[in-house]
Amino acid sequence: MLSAEEYRAIFEASPDGCLVVDSEGVIRDLNPRVEALFGWPREDLLGQSVEMLVPEAKRSAHEHHRRGYTTSPHIRPMGAGLDLTGRRQDGSRFPVEISLSPWTSADGDARVICSVRDVSERKRLQDFSDGVLQATEDERRRIARELHDDTAQRLAALILRVRLLAEEPNAESRSSLLSQIREEIVETAEGVKRMARGLRPPELGDVGLAAAIQSHLRGLREGAGFDVEAEVGLVDPFLGSNESLVIYRIVQEALANVMRHADVPVARLILGVDDGSVFAEVSDSGQGFDLERSSDGRGGLGLLGMQERATMIGGRLTIETAPGEGTRIRIDLPKTKEGLRNG
Ligand SMILES: Nc1ncnc2c1ncn2[C@@H]1O[C@H](COP(=O)(O)OP(=O)(O)OP(=O)(O)O)[C@@H](O)[C@H]1O
Ligand SMILES: [Mg+2]
Repeated sequence: MLSAEEYRAIFEASPDGCLVVDSEGVIRDLNPRVEALFGWPREDLLGQSVEMLVPEAKRSAHEHHRRGYTTSPHIRPMGAGLDLTGRRQDGSRFPVEISLSPWTSADGDARVICSVRDVSERKRLQDFSDGVLQATEDERRRIARELHDDTAQRLAALILRVRLLAEEPNAESRSSLLSQIREEIVETAEGVKRMARGLRPPELGDVGLAAAIQSHLRGLREGAGFDVEAEVGLVDPFLGSNESLVIYRIVQEALANVMRHADVPVARLILGVDDGSVFAEVSDSGQGFDLERSSDGRGGLGLLGMQERATMIGGRLTIETAPGEGTRIRIDLPKTKEGLRNG
């Protein structure tokens, strides 16, 4: 049997936040994890209403549910199926999961034990995989549309022409029809190749990251008239193939974002080697944006994907931006062992 002190120590050491709340919603006890999660010191929470940990807009609904719970207490997750949010001392919010359990104290008072878990990381991963699923679905729809509206249409037209060709008695018209058909076939083949190129990652293994990026920049300049002032250093000896692909994708997305959102005709790219790390930095002096707002799930997949990819290979992604102040995105990666050997 554990002593009271030992039970207390277990309560204190719990990895989840743990609150004891009375039937009036007053916080009677809490463990250090609650202080860490919400940013309030213990003294400021004890004796206060538990609603101070709930975002303002949700407080009255929370109070209502709490009263309902105390009239028929039972063990349950709170707000099952709902997205619950906690409010920190500084006013910021974070997604939480909460479980409730009724308890009666030694002097017979009804209490509720609330266990609180920060699910930011899980929610971020969930958002990302939902986004990836959606993007895969969108991509399939795009390919289907392109195959249907372009490739299939062209092939149908070709069948008609070939039929005409077979029935054409005049040799001169036949030869002109034939050259039209040949042209159509070339265009159709081009279309299919374009589609395939768009789907396939670049041959980084063959040409290396620096060359692949240079070729991407040429494509942007020639295809979209978008200029990138680039300083591309000798980074390839320090990168494995995964790292190269991650940096390539991050640079590609960061530049696409500048083109789409920054409202400037030029971006800047530095790809280089620092003491212990390889880095790539894309910056612009355009619109900038509010990072808080774009990371609350309303933004696109691009930034999330960058973060996710960087984490996957042990890199660090830094985003510096503010409305009107331009944007700077940088990834730093430790040099790989393999790279150090080669380099
Ligand atoms: N360089 C930039 N300049 C200004 N705003 C930017 C820049 N990069 C990103 N943003 C803002 O951040 C938001 C999120 O970017 P993100 O790449 O995640 O999504 P997206 O570009 O809108 O969509 P997609 O999923 O196609 O990438 C953008 O919608 C835009 O408002
Ligand atoms: Mg984007």
